[in-house]
Amino acid sequence: MSSLAQQPGIAEQMAALGSAWLPTEPLSRHTSLGVGGPADLVRVRDLRRLAELIADLRRRGVNWRLLGGGTNLLVVDEGLEDVVLHLRREPDGVRFDGPRVEVPAAANLGTAVMECAKRNLGGMEGLIGVPGTVGGALHMNAGAYGTQIGDVVRAVTVYRGSAGRVEVLRTEDVRFEYRHSSFAANDILLSVSLELPERPYEEILERIKQCNQKRRVSQPIKEKSAGCIFKNPPGHSTGRMIDELGLKGARLGGAVISERHANFIVNRYGATAADIFRLMDLIREKVLKAYGLELEEEVIVWRN
Ligand code: EPU
Repeated sequence: MSSLAQQPGIAEQMAALGSAWLPTEPLSRHTSLGVGGPADLVRVRDLRRLAELIADLRRRGVNWRLLGGGTNLLVVDEGLEDVVLHLRREPDGVRFDGPRVEVPAAANLGTAVMECAKRNLGGMEGLIGVPGTVGGALHMNAGAYGTQIGDVVRAVTVYRGSAGRVEVLRTEDVRFEYRHSSFAANDILLSVSLELPERPYEEILERIKQCNQKRRVSQPIKEKSAGCIFKNPPGHSTGRMIDELGLKGARLGGAVISERHANFIVNRYGATAADIFRLMDLIREKVLKAYGLELEEEVIVWRN
C-alpha cells in the first residue's frame, strides 16, 4: 500500500485533478508477463493536468512510477509501495502533416505503424510486432529487424520530472543507444513527433508481412512474456547462447524458457515473479560459466 492510500478523501482529490484512483490494483493485470503484486494506481485521464497532479503527489511526499504498456516489465510479487501512474490513451490519436507525424505517447506502437503505412509513410516496419506503447518504446529505444524507434524521431514532448514542467526536446537533445535512451525514469513522454520516408503502401505492407512472419516463427508471440529478457552483449546473441546450453524448455515453477526463442521466459503455468527471477539467475550463472559473459537485463524490473 502506498502512503497516499492512508490520506483521507484521496479518491475525490484524484478525481478533482482529472484522474481515477484504483487502490491495490494487481499489476499482473497490467503486464504482458501476467505477474506482479498490487500497487495503488492512478489513471491519468486529463494529461493537461499532469503537472498539477505530480506537484500534488510531491507535496504529499508520495513517490510514483509511470506504467506504459507493461510489455517489458517484471514486477515483484509483493507489490509496490510507490504509486503507479497510468496514462489514458488519447482518443484523437495520430496526426499527420506531410512526412511529419505526431503520435500520443500512450498510443499503441503497432497501431501507429499501421496508421502511418496507410498514409504511405514507412520506416517503422520492423517495429510492427513490438508490443507496448509508443512512449515506452521510445523510452528504451525499442528495435527489431534493423529499425530502432529513436532513428525516426524528430521531437518529443515530455513532462520532465526533474524540472516539473512540460518541455519539447529535439532529437539532438536526446541520446539513443541500444535499448536505452537518455530519458530519466521520472520523464513522462506525452507525444512524439516522427519524420518518416514516403513509400507506396503495398511496399510497406510487404515488409510488415515479412517481419510478422519472421517474428511468428522465431518468437513465442502467443505466450505471456516480456520479450527478450536479457540484452545481447556486443557481438553475441543471448538467445543463441542459452539455446546452445540446452536450456530451452527449462522450467522453474510456472516459468519456462521458451522452446521457440531461448531469450524469452514465458509464463506458461501461472508463474510468479519469483519463478522468473530464479530462471533468470540460472541463465545468468550458466552463461557466465560457459561464456564468461555477464548478462544485463533487458526487461525493466520494478521492486521496492
Ligand atoms: N538463435 C538461436 N536460438 C534461439 C534464439 C536465437 O540459435 O533460441 C539464433 C538465431 O537463429 C539467430 C541469432 O540467434 O541466428 C539471433 O537471433 P534473432 O534474430 O532472433 O535475434 P536476437 O538477437 O535473439 C534481437 C532482439 C529482439 C528482436 C530481434 C529481431 C535483443 C535482446 N533482442 O533478438 O528484440 O525482436 O533481434 O530483430 O536485442 C526484445 O527487445 O524484447 C526483442 C525480442
